[in-house]
Amino acid sequence: MKDLFEKIYKDKGPLGKWASQAEGYFVFPKLEGQISNRMKFQGKEVITWSINDYLGLANHPEIRKVDGEAGVEYGSAYPMGARMMSGHTDLHELLQKELAEFVNKEAAYLLNFGYQGMVSTIDALVSKDDIIVYDVDAHACIIDGVRLHMGKRFTYKHNDVESLEKNLERATKMAEQTGGGILVISEGVFGMRGEQGKLKEIAALKKKYNFRFLVDDAHGFGTLGKTGAGAGEEQGVQDDIDVYFATFAKSMAGTGAFIAADQEIIDYLKYNLRSQMFAKSLQMQLVVGARKRLEMLKTMPELKDKLWENVNALQSGLKERGFDIGTTQSCVTPVYLKGSIPEAMALVKDLRENYGIFCSIVVYPVIPKGLILLRLIPTATHTLEDVRVTLDAFDGIRERLENGTYKRLSAGVVAAMGE
Ligand SMILES: Cc1ncc(COP(=O)(O)O)c(C=O)c1O
Repeated sequence: MKDLFEKIYKDKGPLGKWASQAEGYFVFPKLEGQISNRMKFQGKEVITWSINDYLGLANHPEIRKVDGEAGVEYGSAYPMGARMMSGHTDLHELLQKELAEFVNKEAAYLLNFGYQGMVSTIDALVSKDDIIVYDVDAHACIIDGVRLHMGKRFTYKHNDVESLEKNLERATKMAEQTGGGILVISEGVFGMRGEQGKLKEIAALKKKYNFRFLVDDAHGFGTLGKTGAGAGEEQGVQDDIDVYFATFAKSMAGTGAFIAADQEIIDYLKYNLRSQMFAKSLQMQLVVGARKRLEMLKTMPELKDKLWENVNALQSGLKERGFDIGTTQSCVTPVYLKGSIPEAMALVKDLRENYGIFCSIVVYPVIPKGLILLRLIPTATHTLEDVRVTLDAFDGIRERLENGTYKRLSAGVVAAMGE
């Protein structure tokens, strides 16, 4: 019989196999200093374009003050126990009420983490006779939620309404046999490439098909819509979203998440979300901090305005200089370049060390072979000077990519990887 660990000793997994070349630099890098537009990487100042602190709340003095005071008042343990047993408080309820009002739903429920919360939400919403239809590019937390489902599931092509409709037809036929219902899942904003989910078109299909609609709006909450209520508000279809989900991990610069829906649905989820029923309640410091963040999100529209000033300056600047930024419709700013993985590594090193720009890099298998995706996340803390320096840097790296500099620089890596 095999030792369970044998496969682990042999194969570190699709990402883990790059650890010796990538760890500490391309993956698990350590950014130092206060969270802001400029931080330190390996001792040098860099303009940071890789932190989802969209509204710049992470290090806002008022937030830091409230977080600190709540820490002193409650410590990090309070309340102890799961919500259902001993971890329930007035402030948890108040925050839920405020979140529900903000996203225009009857009720909301807090989740300790977006990831587990989404897994449990999907798990609680469907039973084995139900059918899930979801976007093939969905976030890992949606995929894991679907994995728990004992019944049928179909993917539709990314943001392709025709493909969704075909799958809805199949799902409808199947649901008629099983006696179940249909759950459609999309993201409000797809976090890698920045397109908004086609929520309006999906919602329109409700006239023809009977389904319920769950939207993960991690990147849309706080950044899109007139009031910042997200992609549903932006597209005018918030009422057609049956279960709205957002995390505090991005524009709210915190930890935790929530779902919002009709009161009856939330009442049901409250008693059936396993990740909440069997886990310690969201700690009070985070609840108090989230209330303050939500208040600032509501009362300081200038934060979102500044964010979008930076987004527009960056995205239009990149386009004017001939960069391919794909089809983004959000703050997420992808830049697509052509090159191999070793070239991408040399390019990112150059960008960080010589140009002082820190952004995330995505390569095959997440995107097609031969493409390099540099992903930039503008925030309200960036300045137009940061944008200008970054655009110039991108001109520089493109020239060096095209004149073969990175190919030469990466020759050693290629040899080491045996490519
Ligand atoms: C689309 C999406 N859904 C869910 C999550 C998970 O949220 P959390 O970080 O709160 O677990 C993320 C990442 O944070 C995300 O990008």
